[in-house]
Amino acid sequence: MTFKTKDIIIAFDGHSSCGKSTVAKAVAKELGYTYVDSGAMYRMITLMAMREGLINGDNINTAKLKARLKDISVSFKKNNSGGQDSFLDDENVESQIRSIEVSDKVSYISELDFVRTKLVELQQEMGRQKRIVMDGRDIGTVVFPNAELKIFMTASAKVRAQRRYDELIKKGHMVSFEEVLENIEKRDFIDQNREISPLKKAKDAIVLDNSNLSREEQLEWVLDILRKKFSNE
Ligand code: DC
Repeated sequence: MTFKTKDIIIAFDGHSSCGKSTVAKAVAKELGYTYVDSGAMYRMITLMAMREGLINGDNINTAKLKARLKDISVSFKKNNSGGQDSFLDDENVESQIRSIEVSDKVSYISELDFVRTKLVELQQEMGRQKRIVMDGRDIGTVVFPNAELKIFMTASAKVRAQRRYDELIKKGHMVSFEEVLENIEKRDFIDQNREISPLKKAKDAIVLDNSNLSREEQLEWVLDILRKKFSNE
C-alpha cells in the first residue's frame, strides 16, 4: 500500500544497531522518498582515514584529515537489488564500511567538529527538497531541527548486538558475539557523551522501542503516525 503524504522530512535517530536503517528504508520505499544513511557517510570518512594511515588507535592526524576532506566525495548510488551503495570518490565501499574494523574506529572520527560540519552541510543540502528519510544520531536535533516527524529508536544493547552479530555472520564477517556487544556498548558511550552533537532525543521526537517488535510491526507503527498526522488525502 502506498499513500500520499505532505512533502516532509522524517528524521530517525537512536542507538547503534537498533534497526533504524531497516525501518527508515522501508518507510522511504512506502512513500517514494529518498533514504539517506548518514552513518555511512561517517563510515566512509573513517575508511579513508584508516587506509591513508591518518588514524592510529584513537589518535588522529587531524591536520591531514582536514586537508583531505576538502577534496573527498561521499555519495550514494542505487544498486540493482533495489538498495543503495556508498561511494567514496568513485569506489563502491558498501561492504568495507560495514566491517568491525571500521565500526571500531568510526566513533573517534565522528566526534571531530570539522568532520561533522562538513557532513551536516552535505546532509542539509540533500534535504532541501524535503521528501527525505534520514537516519543517524543528530538528524532531529542538529541536521533537521525542523523535521516534521522525528522518531527516536532504541532497544536493549543485547538485542541490538544479537541482530548485528547475525547480520555480520550472514555477510561472511568473522566476529564473536562478545566482540559485537563490546563494540555497541563502547559506541553508545561515545555517541552519548561526546561534546559535539551527542546522541540525545529531540524534545519533539516520538520514542520507538523495538526490542520486541517485528520489522512489519515497526513499519506499521510509523505508517500509522503518518496516516494520522501527515496524510494528504
Ligand atoms: O548508524 P551507524 O552505526 O552506521 O553509524 C556509524 C557511526 O557514525 C556511529 O558510531 C555514530 C556515528 N554517527 C554520528 O555521529 N552521527 C550521525 N548522524 C550518524 C552516525
